[in-house]
Amino acid sequence: MKEIKIESTLYLFESLEELPKEVTFLMGKAVEAREKAYAPYSNFYVGAALLLDNNEIITGSNQENASYPSGLCAERTAIYYANSQYPDSKIVRMAITAGSKKNQTTSPIPPCGACRQAIAEYEVKQDAPIEIYFMGEVGKIAKSNSLANLLPLIFDKSVL
Ligand code: THU
Repeated sequence: MKEIKIESTLYLFESLEELPKEVTFLMGKAVEAREKAYAPYSNFYVGAALLLDNNEIITGSNQENASYPSGLCAERTAIYYANSQYPDSKIVRMAITAGSKKNQTTSPIPPCGACRQAIAEYEVKQDAPIEIYFMGEVGKIAKSNSLANLLPLIFDKSVL
């Protein structure tokens, strides 16, 4: 038997001021999207903003539904829209912020597993890494240099 260790690397920024300017701007767009989230059931508000290589910024927020599983996360709302509108553009980076009405979120909140799988599809498709920045409402911001780094043992078309 052989042990295999899998590592992921994150970079932590102390505050928005420490981020590169264009990333602070993108995170600002994610915050605006978060404020438009439709989350009457969980009261958990998520916003995502994508920068494309054509310089377009696409945003999305979580959209809930009385039939709970019919709702969709912010990240997938944004990435599906981006790929619908601009199928030939690559995604350079994604900024995500999540907040709760119950208590202020103060640590970075990573995308859920289903969203990681969805983002992975486009990272593989475009054959270029997507930078992922994520935060709560306040506090530190985490950066991953790619989606693959957030999803060890990725399931993609290569196994089909
Ligand atoms: N949510 C997102 O929008 N993104 C994630 O990565 C995790 C969860 C949403 C789904 C649901 O509307 C609410 O947050 C609570 O799970």
